[in-house]
Amino acid sequence: MKTIELKNITKVYNNKVTALDNVSLTLCEGEFVAVMGQSGSGKSTLLQIAGLLDNCTSGSVIINGEDVSKLNTNQLADVRKNSLGFVFQAFHLNPHLKVYENIMVPMLINDRFKNKAEMQSRAMELVDKVGLTHRKEHYPSELSGGEQQRVAIARALANEPDFILADEPTGNLDSKNEQMIFEELKKLSEMGKGVLVVCHNDAILNFAEKVYNMKDGKFENE
Ligand SMILES: Nc1ncnc2c1ncn2[C@@H]1O[C@H](COP(=O)(O)OP(=O)(O)O)[C@@H](O)[C@H]1O
Ligand SMILES: [Mg+2]
Repeated sequence: MKTIELKNITKVYNNKVTALDNVSLTLCEGEFVAVMGQSGSGKSTLLQIAGLLDNCTSGSVIINGEDVSKLNTNQLADVRKNSLGFVFQAFHLNPHLKVYENIMVPMLINDRFKNKAEMQSRAMELVDKVGLTHRKEHYPSELSGGEQQRVAIARALANEPDFILADEPTGNLDSKNEQMIFEELKKLSEMGKGVLVVCHNDAILNFAEKVYNMKDGKFENE
């Protein structure tokens, strides 16, 4: 069973701000988990620690059975590259690359792909998967916000991660597009990915199987 285990995570910024206070959570493959909470409650900090983008002050992060505190920088990068896919509120697409080229970007650092043609055909599969076949040659500026976020989801899938971590993925979208993005993420969990979404929007409650409410760096419903 593929899992991300966060055990008793505490994060203190600058010896002053306690952003996370002894938080534990397990995300399994095939699961859709949401963390909800107001702005400043510690959601992004939690996601960044789960995604190995930041260190915790105390506690442990265990990914697929491996305690990541024992890994060196290269090994951490490998776990990030092979096991984790990220989606952010602001899409972060490269404006100078077409849709399918944006999706190819993470493949460039993956030696599993032998050549450009292989990457391109994988990118086209992913474009189809998120329903953007007709937009594959377009640039991000020619797409709606919802379409741009679907490109970002396809890009997160490029290296076939076990887990998708999304930080307020619908924060810049209207409610119709929000619905679509949550449906897309739900599909991924049904395909076996572990999906962790942090957000402060109730609409997620219709999709997530497990919801944690965060307040002042702690889970309220524990
Ligand atoms: N890099 C940082 N340095 C200092 N304080 C930070 C930093 N990042 C976040 N914080 C603080 O940690 C708390 C939690 O922030 P964050 O995880 O971004 O919350 P959320 O994503 O729920 O809005 C806030 O009080 C915030 O000001
Ligand atoms: Mg945040």
